[in-house]
Amino acid sequence: MKAAVLHALNEPLDVTDVEVEGPRAGEVRVSIRATGVCHSDLSAIEGKIPFITPMVLGHEGAGVVEEVGPHVRRVVVGDHVIVSWVATCNRCFFCLHGQPQLCQSGMAAFGSMDDGTTRLRLNGDVLYHGLNAATFAETTILRDTAVVPIPKDIPFNVAALVGCGVTTGVGAAIHTAQVQPGERVAVIGCGGVGISVIQGCRLAGAATIIAVDPVAGRRQAAQRFGATNALEAGDGAIAEVQALTDGLGADAVFEVVGHPALQRQAYEMTRAGGRTILVGVPGMDAELCVNSFFMTIGEKTVRGCFYGSARPDRDFPWILELYRAGRLDLDSMVTQTLPLERINEAFDAMRKGEQLRTVVSVS
Ligand SMILES: NC(=O)c1ccc[n+]([C@@H]2O[C@H](COP(=O)([O-])OP(=O)(O)OC[C@H]3O[C@@H](n4cnc5c(N)ncnc54)[C@H](O)[C@@H]3O)[C@@H](O)[C@H]2O)c1
Ligand SMILES: [Zn+2]
Ligand SMILES: [Zn+2]
Repeated sequence: MKAAVLHALNEPLDVTDVEVEGPRAGEVRVSIRATGVCHSDLSAIEGKIPFITPMVLGHEGAGVVEEVGPHVRRVVVGDHVIVSWVATCNRCFFCLHGQPQLCQSGMAAFGSMDDGTTRLRLNGDVLYHGLNAATFAETTILRDTAVVPIPKDIPFNVAALVGCGVTTGVGAAIHTAQVQPGERVAVIGCGGVGISVIQGCRLAGAATIIAVDPVAGRRQAAQRFGATNALEAGDGAIAEVQALTDGLGADAVFEVVGHPALQRQAYEMTRAGGRTILVGVPGMDAELCVNSFFMTIGEKTVRGCFYGSARPDRDFPWILELYRAGRLDLDSMVTQTLPLERINEAFDAMRKGEQLRTVVSVS
């Protein structure tokens, strides 16, 4: 079967034939139909997020269950599913304390199955499964807890987006920041994830949603998806956010790019008593530098956000319900569809800030 392989950092992906083993106990084989391209894939290619090579990337996918291994009860052959890139164990501290997105087994096994082996091979050698998912492929093997069944009438390209960007963004607004009706928020970075934060804030009833991005097309998109104001990125945006919020700063500010200087900007745009939410993934050695005097006397909260603090089993279905009800616009987020062979064009577009979300249509 064909898959897009990252052989070494900073190289284009190589769409080539790879070998795939059948599912073992507790695993399923999924025929991928559509897979979105998320900035975390680009960060993996660039070495910003550490990954082992050779690896099949892709973690925002949807498809059809083709085969199930022994002891699988969650899905049957023929089910349509969204891939969750955190495969929860339902036993660890985090799973038992209502934070399955932080599941230790899912984190420990980034690249291989639970037993440390892979089901993918390249010319007989080990080939790793990126982010537990490896969706840039015609077929992938997943733990059964990494698939969530969905209704069959949901288009695959929309379902794919829910596997990462949409759930992360909407979850950041609803779960992590718990945006309240009437609040004033700002969102730095209006790509696929940032636009989903904006949609989540709109759904939560935010009165003012300020979008910040250097790309004019992204600012226009942000306004189509619910932003009430759009600002050109830069240090000047801090004063502009203050001016739009009676000089106080916003109730919640989301950094959705992944850069310490922008995390600091987000913090400075946040009002006393407000929340700064870090969604963008910075480099491994990044450090947040903010004035802690005003943090103490201003009671500000800085909070990380992983996978929108979501529980895929619970949250994918209601996100799809909102889509079906016309309250979450996912169709317009897909601005380009490419075949797997042309996947590198998706990264070219992402580097230039072109296209909102590219979806690779696989089979
Ligand atoms: N926390 C999580 O669980 C999680 C999940 C998915 C993605 N992410 C991360 O979210 C981030 C965004 O992902 P995406 O897929 O939306 O990326 P994207 O490439 O689609 O969008 C990034 C946006 O940031 C904008 N930007 C660049 N420089 C900027 C600046 N100086 N100020 C303001 N905006 C700027 C770009 O113009 C673009 O619109 C990445 O860091 C990604 O790794 C995190
Ligand atoms: Zn992602
Ligand atoms: Zn767990």
